[in-house]
Amino acid sequence: MSDLSRRNVLSLGVALGLVGAASVAPAWGATQTGSAADPWWVWDDEIDRIMARVLEAGQVPAVNTAMGSWVDNNDPLPGGLPADLAGHLQRVHKLPSWADPAKLRRAADFNRRKDTYLFMLYGLGSGIMSTVIPREAKSVYWSAGGADMQDRAAKTFTFGYDLSDLNAFEPDGQFVVTANKTRLVHAAVRHLLPQSAHWKAVADERIPISNGDILVTFHSLGTYVHRKLREWKVPMSAADEEAFLHMWQVAIHLLGVREEFIPKTWAAAHAQSAQVLTPILSPSHEGKELAEELLGLTAQIDLGVTRGFLNEFVRYVLSDAIGDWLGLRRDYASAALIRTAWPAYIAFREGLIPVMPAGFFMFDQLVRALAMLFLNKGTSPTTTPITIPTGNRPG
Ligand code: HEM
Repeated sequence: MSDLSRRNVLSLGVALGLVGAASVAPAWGATQTGSAADPWWVWDDEIDRIMARVLEAGQVPAVNTAMGSWVDNNDPLPGGLPADLAGHLQRVHKLPSWADPAKLRRAADFNRRKDTYLFMLYGLGSGIMSTVIPREAKSVYWSAGGADMQDRAAKTFTFGYDLSDLNAFEPDGQFVVTANKTRLVHAAVRHLLPQSAHWKAVADERIPISNGDILVTFHSLGTYVHRKLREWKVPMSAADEEAFLHMWQVAIHLLGVREEFIPKTWAAAHAQSAQVLTPILSPSHEGKELAEELLGLTAQIDLGVTRGFLNEFVRYVLSDAIGDWLGLRRDYASAALIRTAWPAYIAFREGLIPVMPAGFFMFDQLVRALAMLFLNKGTSPTTTPITIPTGNRPG
Protein backbone atom coordinates (compact mmCIF):
# COMPACT_ATOMS: atom_id res chain seq x y z
CA MET A 1 0.00 0.00 0.00
CA SER A 2 1.44 3.37 -0.95
CA ASP A 3 1.85 6.07 1.70
CA LEU A 4 -0.88 8.07 0.06
CA SER A 5 -3.45 5.31 0.15
CA ARG A 6 -2.44 4.41 3.71
CA ARG A 7 -3.04 8.04 4.67
CA ASN A 8 -6.42 7.92 2.91
CA VAL A 9 -7.34 4.82 4.85
CA LEU A 10 -6.34 6.34 8.16
CA SER A 11 -8.12 9.62 7.60
CA LEU A 12 -11.13 7.71 6.36
CA GLY A 13 -11.02 5.54 9.45
CA VAL A 14 -10.96 8.64 11.61
CA ALA A 15 -13.78 10.17 9.59
CA LEU A 16 -15.86 7.06 10.04
CA GLY A 17 -14.96 6.89 13.71
CA LEU A 18 -13.55 3.43 13.18
CA VAL A 19 -9.85 3.88 13.91
CA GLY A 20 -9.28 3.39 17.58
CA ALA A 21 -8.35 0.71 20.04
CA ALA A 22 -10.05 -1.88 17.90
CA SER A 23 -7.63 -1.32 15.05
CA VAL A 24 -4.82 -2.86 17.05
CA ALA A 25 -6.79 -5.97 17.97
CA PRO A 26 -5.44 -9.24 16.52
CA ALA A 27 -6.35 -10.19 12.97
CA TRP A 28 -9.28 -12.51 12.56
CA GLY A 29 -8.77 -16.17 11.89
CA ALA A 30 -7.02 -18.24 14.49
CA THR A 31 -6.59 -15.49 17.06
CA GLN A 32 -9.91 -13.70 16.93
CA THR A 33 -12.26 -16.53 16.22
CA GLY A 34 -10.51 -19.32 18.04
CA SER A 35 -10.63 -21.32 14.83
CA ALA A 36 -7.82 -22.66 12.72
CA ALA A 37 -9.57 -21.64 9.51
CA ASP A 38 -9.22 -18.25 7.85
CA PRO A 39 -12.53 -16.83 6.55
CA TRP A 40 -10.81 -15.37 3.49
CA TRP A 41 -10.09 -18.91 2.39
CA VAL A 42 -13.42 -20.48 3.25
CA TRP A 43 -16.18 -20.62 0.66
CA ASP A 44 -19.26 -22.85 0.55
CA ASP A 45 -17.84 -26.16 -0.67
CA GLU A 46 -20.88 -28.38 -1.05
CA ILE A 47 -23.15 -25.93 -2.88
CA ASP A 48 -20.20 -24.54 -4.86
CA ARG A 49 -19.54 -28.02 -6.24
CA ILE A 50 -23.21 -28.58 -7.01
CA MET A 51 -23.70 -25.23 -8.74
CA ALA A 52 -20.55 -25.73 -10.83
CA ARG A 53 -22.00 -29.03 -12.02
CA VAL A 54 -25.47 -27.52 -12.62
CA LEU A 55 -23.90 -24.69 -14.67
CA GLU A 56 -21.72 -27.04 -16.69
CA ALA A 57 -24.73 -29.27 -17.40
CA GLY A 58 -26.76 -26.29 -18.66
CA GLN A 59 -29.43 -26.89 -16.01
CA VAL A 60 -29.65 -23.32 -14.66
CA PRO A 61 -32.68 -22.18 -16.74
CA ALA A 62 -34.64 -25.26 -15.60
CA VAL A 63 -33.60 -24.66 -11.98
CA ASN A 64 -34.69 -21.00 -12.21
CA THR A 65 -38.05 -22.04 -13.65
CA ALA A 66 -38.54 -24.65 -10.92
CA MET A 67 -37.61 -22.15 -8.21
CA GLY A 68 -40.06 -19.56 -9.48
CA SER A 69 -42.87 -21.08 -7.41
CA TRP A 70 -40.70 -21.44 -4.29
CA VAL A 71 -41.48 -18.30 -2.31
CA ASP A 72 -42.74 -18.79 1.24
CA ASN A 73 -40.56 -20.31 3.95
CA ASN A 74 -43.06 -23.12 4.40
CA ASP A 75 -43.50 -23.86 0.68
CA PRO A 76 -42.37 -27.40 -0.14
CA LEU A 77 -39.13 -27.58 -2.10
CA PRO A 78 -40.00 -27.31 -5.79
CA GLY A 79 -40.09 -30.47 -7.86
CA GLY A 80 -37.85 -30.83 -10.88
CA LEU A 81 -34.58 -29.82 -9.19
CA PRO A 82 -31.48 -31.95 -9.82
CA ALA A 83 -31.22 -34.52 -7.03
CA ASP A 84 -27.97 -33.20 -5.54
CA LEU A 85 -29.34 -29.64 -5.38
CA ALA A 86 -32.63 -30.80 -3.87
CA GLY A 87 -30.71 -32.84 -1.28
CA HIS A 88 -28.57 -29.85 -0.36
CA LEU A 89 -31.55 -27.52 -0.02
CA GLN A 90 -33.34 -30.09 2.12
CA ARG A 91 -30.42 -29.97 4.56
CA VAL A 92 -29.89 -26.19 4.72
CA HIS A 93 -33.40 -24.80 4.28
CA LYS A 94 -34.10 -24.25 7.97
CA LEU A 95 -33.21 -21.89 10.76
CA PRO A 96 -30.11 -22.82 12.76
CA SER A 97 -30.70 -24.57 16.10
CA TRP A 98 -29.52 -21.43 17.93
CA ALA A 99 -32.07 -19.11 16.26
CA ASP A 100 -34.21 -17.47 18.93
CA PRO A 101 -37.78 -16.88 17.67
CA ALA A 102 -38.47 -14.24 20.34
CA LYS A 103 -35.40 -12.23 19.31
CA LEU A 104 -36.31 -12.55 15.63
CA ARG A 105 -39.82 -11.27 16.35
CA ARG A 106 -38.37 -8.36 18.32
CA ALA A 107 -35.99 -7.60 15.44
CA ALA A 108 -38.95 -7.52 13.05
CA ASP A 109 -40.72 -5.08 15.32
CA PHE A 110 -37.54 -2.99 15.63
CA ASN A 111 -37.27 -2.86 11.82
CA ARG A 112 -40.83 -1.59 11.68
CA ARG A 113 -40.29 1.06 14.36
CA LYS A 114 -37.04 2.37 12.89
CA ASP A 115 -37.84 1.76 9.25
CA THR A 116 -37.26 5.33 8.06
CA TYR A 117 -33.67 5.46 9.33
CA LEU A 118 -33.05 1.93 8.11
CA PHE A 119 -34.20 2.79 4.56
CA MET A 120 -31.93 5.83 4.49
CA LEU A 121 -28.93 4.01 5.92
CA TYR A 122 -29.17 0.81 3.92
CA GLY A 123 -30.06 2.66 0.73
CA LEU A 124 -27.78 5.69 0.72
CA GLY A 125 -25.16 4.44 3.20
CA SER A 126 -24.58 0.69 2.74
CA GLY A 127 -25.64 0.71 -0.92
CA ILE A 128 -23.08 3.33 -1.89
CA MET A 129 -20.46 1.94 0.51
CA SER A 130 -20.60 -1.31 -1.46
CA THR A 131 -19.09 0.58 -4.40
CA VAL A 132 -15.91 1.36 -2.43
CA ILE A 133 -15.46 -2.22 -1.24
CA PRO A 134 -13.22 -3.15 -4.18
CA ARG A 135 -13.71 -6.94 -4.25
CA GLU A 136 -17.46 -6.51 -4.06
CA ALA A 137 -17.62 -3.66 -6.59
CA LYS A 138 -15.50 -5.55 -9.11
CA SER A 139 -17.50 -8.76 -8.64
CA VAL A 140 -20.81 -7.01 -9.04
CA TYR A 141 -19.62 -4.98 -12.02
CA TRP A 142 -18.22 -7.93 -13.97
CA SER A 143 -21.03 -10.40 -13.15
CA ALA A 144 -24.11 -10.58 -15.38
CA GLY A 145 -26.09 -8.31 -13.06
CA GLY A 146 -23.55 -5.50 -13.44
CA ALA A 147 -24.89 -4.82 -16.93
CA ASP A 148 -28.38 -4.07 -15.63
CA MET A 149 -28.17 -2.24 -12.34
CA GLN A 150 -31.88 -1.45 -12.26
CA ASP A 151 -32.70 -5.15 -12.24
CA ARG A 152 -29.93 -5.92 -9.78
CA ALA A 153 -31.04 -3.16 -7.44
CA ALA A 154 -34.59 -4.52 -7.57
CA LYS A 155 -33.30 -7.99 -6.62
CA THR A 156 -31.31 -6.55 -3.75
CA PHE A 157 -34.48 -4.79 -2.63
CA THR A 158 -36.15 -8.20 -2.56
CA PHE A 159 -33.54 -9.39 -0.08
CA GLY A 160 -33.84 -6.29 2.12
CA TYR A 161 -37.61 -6.29 1.94
CA ASP A 162 -37.92 -9.96 2.86
CA LEU A 163 -35.39 -9.58 5.68
CA SER A 164 -37.21 -6.56 7.13
CA ASP A 165 -40.68 -8.01 6.81
CA LEU A 166 -42.62 -8.60 10.03
CA ASN A 167 -42.90 -12.32 9.19
CA ALA A 168 -39.41 -12.65 7.69
CA PHE A 169 -38.41 -15.81 9.55
CA GLU A 170 -41.92 -17.16 10.22
CA PRO A 171 -43.34 -20.04 8.16
CA ASP A 172 -45.42 -17.63 6.05
CA GLY A 173 -42.49 -15.20 5.61
CA GLN A 174 -40.09 -15.38 2.69
CA PHE A 175 -36.63 -14.58 3.92
CA VAL A 176 -35.32 -18.12 4.45
CA VAL A 177 -36.14 -18.93 0.82
CA THR A 178 -34.67 -15.64 -0.42
CA ALA A 179 -31.45 -16.20 1.53
CA ASN A 180 -31.13 -19.71 0.11
CA LYS A 181 -31.65 -18.46 -3.43
CA THR A 182 -29.00 -15.79 -2.81
CA ARG A 183 -26.66 -18.50 -1.57
CA LEU A 184 -27.14 -20.35 -4.86
CA VAL A 185 -26.48 -17.16 -6.84
CA HIS A 186 -23.25 -16.61 -4.90
CA ALA A 187 -22.18 -20.22 -5.55
CA ALA A 188 -22.81 -19.72 -9.28
CA VAL A 189 -20.82 -16.47 -9.26
CA ARG A 190 -17.84 -18.27 -7.65
CA HIS A 191 -17.80 -20.62 -10.63
CA LEU A 192 -18.52 -18.00 -13.31
CA LEU A 193 -16.40 -14.97 -12.40
CA PRO A 194 -13.04 -16.78 -12.48
CA GLN A 195 -13.87 -17.47 -16.16
CA SER A 196 -14.22 -13.74 -16.91
CA ALA A 197 -11.08 -12.26 -18.45
CA HIS A 198 -12.26 -8.79 -17.35
CA TRP A 199 -12.71 -9.81 -13.74
CA LYS A 200 -9.39 -11.69 -13.69
CA ALA A 201 -7.63 -8.59 -14.99
CA VAL A 202 -8.81 -6.45 -12.05
CA ALA A 203 -9.24 -8.90 -9.17
CA ASP A 204 -6.72 -10.72 -7.02
CA GLU A 205 -6.34 -14.46 -7.39
CA ARG A 206 -8.87 -15.46 -4.76
CA ILE A 207 -12.26 -16.88 -5.70
CA PRO A 208 -14.89 -14.23 -4.88
CA ILE A 209 -17.46 -14.23 -2.07
CA SER A 210 -15.51 -16.04 0.63
CA ASN A 211 -16.83 -16.11 4.19
CA GLY A 212 -14.49 -13.15 4.77
CA ASP A 213 -16.06 -11.17 1.92
CA ILE A 214 -19.56 -11.89 3.21
CA LEU A 215 -18.58 -10.71 6.69
CA VAL A 216 -17.17 -7.50 5.21
CA THR A 217 -20.47 -6.90 3.44
CA PHE A 218 -22.39 -7.67 6.64
CA HIS A 219 -20.34 -4.97 8.39
CA SER A 220 -21.23 -2.51 5.60
CA LEU A 221 -24.89 -3.33 6.30
CA GLY A 222 -25.78 -4.39 9.84
CA THR A 223 -22.72 -3.18 11.75
CA TYR A 224 -22.63 0.15 9.92
CA VAL A 225 -26.35 0.79 10.45
CA HIS A 226 -26.05 -0.08 14.14
CA ARG A 227 -23.16 2.38 14.54
CA LYS A 228 -24.99 5.19 12.77
CA LEU A 229 -28.17 4.66 14.80
CA ARG A 230 -26.08 4.95 17.96
CA GLU A 231 -24.20 7.96 16.61
CA TRP A 232 -27.51 9.63 15.73
CA LYS A 233 -28.79 8.89 19.23
CA VAL A 234 -31.83 7.07 17.90
CA PRO A 235 -33.37 5.53 21.03
CA MET A 236 -32.84 1.74 21.13
CA SER A 237 -33.18 -0.62 24.07
CA ALA A 238 -30.45 -3.17 24.78
CA ALA A 239 -32.95 -5.87 23.80
CA ASP A 240 -33.58 -4.10 20.46
CA GLU A 241 -29.87 -3.93 19.72
CA GLU A 242 -29.38 -7.58 20.60
CA ALA A 243 -32.35 -8.60 18.47
CA PHE A 244 -31.04 -6.61 15.48
CA LEU A 245 -27.67 -8.36 15.80
CA HIS A 246 -29.38 -11.74 16.13
CA MET A 247 -31.35 -11.16 12.93
CA TRP A 248 -28.09 -10.49 11.06
CA GLN A 249 -26.36 -13.49 12.67
CA VAL A 250 -29.12 -15.76 11.37
CA ALA A 251 -29.08 -14.02 7.96
CA ILE A 252 -25.36 -14.53 7.40
CA HIS A 253 -25.59 -18.10 8.65
CA LEU A 254 -28.22 -18.68 5.94
CA LEU A 255 -25.78 -17.19 3.41
CA GLY A 256 -23.25 -19.87 4.33
CA VAL A 257 -20.95 -18.14 6.84
CA ARG A 258 -19.53 -20.63 9.34
CA GLU A 259 -20.75 -20.22 12.86
CA GLU A 260 -17.26 -19.78 14.31
CA PHE A 261 -16.75 -16.59 12.25
CA ILE A 262 -20.04 -14.88 13.14
CA PRO A 263 -19.47 -12.10 15.71
CA LYS A 264 -21.21 -12.88 19.00
CA THR A 265 -21.64 -9.29 20.21
CA TRP A 266 -21.86 -5.82 18.74
CA ALA A 267 -18.51 -5.03 20.36
CA ALA A 268 -16.95 -7.95 18.48
CA ALA A 269 -18.70 -6.92 15.27
CA HIS A 270 -17.46 -3.33 15.50
CA ALA A 271 -13.92 -4.49 16.28
CA GLN A 272 -13.99 -6.87 13.30
CA SER A 273 -15.43 -4.17 11.07
CA ALA A 274 -12.64 -1.76 12.00
CA GLN A 275 -10.14 -4.42 11.01
CA VAL A 276 -11.58 -5.90 7.89
CA LEU A 277 -13.84 -3.27 6.34
CA THR A 278 -12.36 0.18 7.02
CA PRO A 279 -8.82 -0.56 5.81
CA ILE A 280 -9.96 -2.02 2.50
CA LEU A 281 -12.32 0.77 1.45
CA SER A 282 -10.96 2.40 -1.69
CA PRO A 283 -12.11 3.67 -5.06
CA SER A 284 -12.02 1.69 -8.27
CA HIS A 285 -13.12 2.37 -11.81
CA GLU A 286 -15.87 -0.23 -11.44
CA GLY A 287 -17.05 1.17 -8.09
CA LYS A 288 -17.27 4.71 -9.45
CA GLU A 289 -19.42 3.61 -12.35
CA LEU A 290 -21.67 1.56 -10.10
CA ALA A 291 -22.13 4.46 -7.68
CA GLU A 292 -23.00 6.79 -10.53
CA GLU A 293 -25.56 4.28 -11.84
CA LEU A 294 -27.07 3.72 -8.40
CA LEU A 295 -27.37 7.42 -7.63
CA GLY A 296 -28.67 8.03 -11.14
CA LEU A 297 -31.38 5.41 -10.56
CA THR A 298 -32.33 7.03 -7.28
CA ALA A 299 -32.47 10.42 -8.95
CA GLN A 300 -35.00 9.05 -11.49
CA ILE A 301 -37.53 8.79 -8.71
CA ASP A 302 -38.96 12.01 -7.37
CA LEU A 303 -37.43 12.12 -3.92
CA GLY A 304 -38.26 15.79 -3.53
CA VAL A 305 -34.58 16.71 -3.38
CA THR A 306 -31.93 17.58 -5.94
CA ARG A 307 -29.06 15.35 -7.03
CA GLY A 308 -26.75 17.77 -5.20
CA PHE A 309 -28.67 17.15 -1.99
CA LEU A 310 -28.44 13.37 -2.51
CA ASN A 311 -24.68 13.67 -3.09
CA GLU A 312 -24.36 15.59 0.16
CA PHE A 313 -26.49 13.13 2.09
CA VAL A 314 -24.20 10.33 0.89
CA ARG A 315 -21.21 12.40 2.01
CA TYR A 316 -22.92 13.02 5.35
CA VAL A 317 -23.55 9.33 6.04
CA LEU A 318 -20.30 8.00 4.58
CA SER A 319 -17.65 10.78 4.81
CA ASP A 320 -16.19 13.35 2.45
CA ALA A 321 -13.30 11.03 1.68
CA ILE A 322 -15.70 8.56 0.07
CA GLY A 323 -17.65 11.38 -1.58
CA ASP A 324 -14.39 12.63 -3.13
CA TRP A 325 -13.39 9.14 -4.29
CA LEU A 326 -16.73 8.82 -6.07
CA GLY A 327 -16.48 12.34 -7.51
CA LEU A 328 -19.78 13.44 -5.96
CA ARG A 329 -20.30 17.05 -6.92
CA ARG A 330 -20.46 19.41 -3.95
CA ASP A 331 -23.56 21.35 -2.93
CA TYR A 332 -22.43 23.31 0.10
CA ALA A 333 -25.83 24.81 0.90
CA SER A 334 -27.37 21.33 1.13
CA ALA A 335 -24.39 20.13 3.16
CA ALA A 336 -24.90 22.87 5.74
CA LEU A 337 -28.62 22.20 5.92
CA ILE A 338 -28.14 18.45 6.40
CA ARG A 339 -25.55 18.92 9.14
CA THR A 340 -27.90 20.90 11.32
CA ALA A 341 -31.38 19.88 10.23
CA TRP A 342 -30.99 16.09 10.06
CA PRO A 343 -30.09 15.62 13.76
CA ALA A 344 -32.98 17.95 14.63
CA TYR A 345 -35.29 15.95 12.37
CA ILE A 346 -34.42 12.76 14.23
CA ALA A 347 -34.78 14.40 17.64
CA PHE A 348 -38.21 15.75 16.68
CA ARG A 349 -39.40 12.44 15.25
CA GLU A 350 -38.25 10.61 18.34
CA GLY A 351 -40.07 13.10 20.59
CA LEU A 352 -36.82 14.41 22.06
CA ILE A 353 -37.46 18.05 21.10
CA PRO A 354 -40.85 19.78 20.94
CA VAL A 355 -40.20 22.19 18.05
CA MET A 356 -40.45 21.08 14.43
CA PRO A 357 -37.10 21.93 12.84
CA ALA A 358 -36.53 23.78 9.57
CA GLY A 359 -36.27 21.34 6.69
CA PHE A 360 -38.59 18.86 8.41
CA PHE A 361 -40.91 18.46 5.44
CA MET A 362 -38.10 18.07 2.99
CA PHE A 363 -36.52 15.27 5.00
CA ASP A 364 -39.91 13.75 5.58
CA GLN A 365 -40.62 13.66 1.86
CA LEU A 366 -37.23 12.14 1.15
CA VAL A 367 -37.68 9.50 3.82
CA ARG A 368 -41.22 8.71 2.65
CA ALA A 369 -40.20 8.51 -1.00
CA LEU A 370 -37.38 6.10 -0.14
CA ALA A 371 -39.78 4.11 2.03
CA MET A 372 -42.34 3.93 -0.79
CA LEU A 373 -39.64 2.82 -3.18
CA PHE A 374 -38.67 0.13 -0.70
CA LEU A 375 -42.21 -0.91 0.17
CA ASN A 376 -43.04 -1.12 -3.53
CA LYS A 377 -40.15 -3.55 -3.65
CA GLY A 378 -37.95 -1.52 -5.91
CA THR A 379 -39.33 -0.54 -9.21
CA SER A 380 -42.20 -2.98 -9.55
CA PRO A 381 -45.16 -3.68 -7.29
CA THR A 382 -44.23 -7.36 -7.18
CA THR A 383 -40.94 -8.73 -5.96
CA THR A 384 -38.30 -9.21 -8.65
CA PRO A 385 -37.37 -12.87 -8.30
CA ILE A 386 -33.78 -13.71 -7.54
CA THR A 387 -32.44 -15.93 -10.31
CA ILE A 388 -29.18 -17.75 -10.90
CA PRO A 389 -27.05 -16.17 -13.65
CA THR A 390 -25.80 -18.32 -16.53
CA GLY A 391 -22.84 -16.15 -17.51
CA ASN A 392 -20.85 -13.02 -16.77
CA ARG A 393 -21.18 -9.44 -17.93
CA PRO A 394 -20.31 -9.38 -21.59
CA GLY A 395 -17.11 -7.45 -22.35
C1 HEM B 1 -25.99 -11.50 -5.85
C2 HEM B 1 -27.01 -10.19 -1.29
C3 HEM B 1 -22.31 -10.58 -0.21
C4 HEM B 1 -21.37 -10.40 -4.95
C5 HEM B 1 -26.67 -11.21 -4.69
C6 HEM B 1 -28.10 -11.20 -4.55
C7 HEM B 1 -28.38 -10.77 -3.30
C8 HEM B 1 -27.13 -10.57 -2.61
C9 HEM B 1 -29.75 -10.54 -2.70
C10 HEM B 1 -29.11 -11.61 -5.61
C11 HEM B 1 -29.51 -10.47 -6.43
C12 HEM B 1 -28.85 -10.44 -7.74
O1 HEM B 1 -28.75 -11.47 -8.40
O2 HEM B 1 -28.43 -9.37 -8.13
C13 HEM B 1 -25.82 -10.24 -0.58
C14 HEM B 1 -25.70 -10.09 0.86
C15 HEM B 1 -24.37 -10.23 1.18
C16 HEM B 1 -23.67 -10.44 -0.08
C17 HEM B 1 -26.86 -9.82 1.80
C18 HEM B 1 -23.68 -10.19 2.50
C19 HEM B 1 -24.23 -9.99 3.69
C20 HEM B 1 -21.65 -10.49 -1.41
C21 HEM B 1 -20.22 -10.34 -1.56
C22 HEM B 1 -19.95 -10.26 -2.89
C23 HEM B 1 -21.23 -10.39 -3.59
C24 HEM B 1 -19.25 -10.28 -0.40
C25 HEM B 1 -18.64 -10.12 -3.61
C26 HEM B 1 -17.47 -9.98 -3.06
C27 HEM B 1 -22.53 -10.72 -5.59
C28 HEM B 1 -22.64 -10.93 -7.03
C29 HEM B 1 -23.97 -11.27 -7.29
C30 HEM B 1 -24.65 -11.25 -6.02
C31 HEM B 1 -21.51 -10.79 -8.02
C32 HEM B 1 -24.60 -11.69 -8.62
C33 HEM B 1 -25.09 -10.59 -9.44
C34 HEM B 1 -25.53 -11.13 -10.80
O3 HEM B 1 -26.68 -11.53 -10.93
O4 HEM B 1 -24.73 -11.13 -11.67
N1 HEM B 1 -26.10 -10.86 -3.48
N2 HEM B 1 -24.58 -10.45 -1.11
N3 HEM B 1 -22.22 -10.53 -2.66
N4 HEM B 1 -23.75 -10.93 -5.03
FE1 HEM B 1 -24.17 -10.77 -3.07
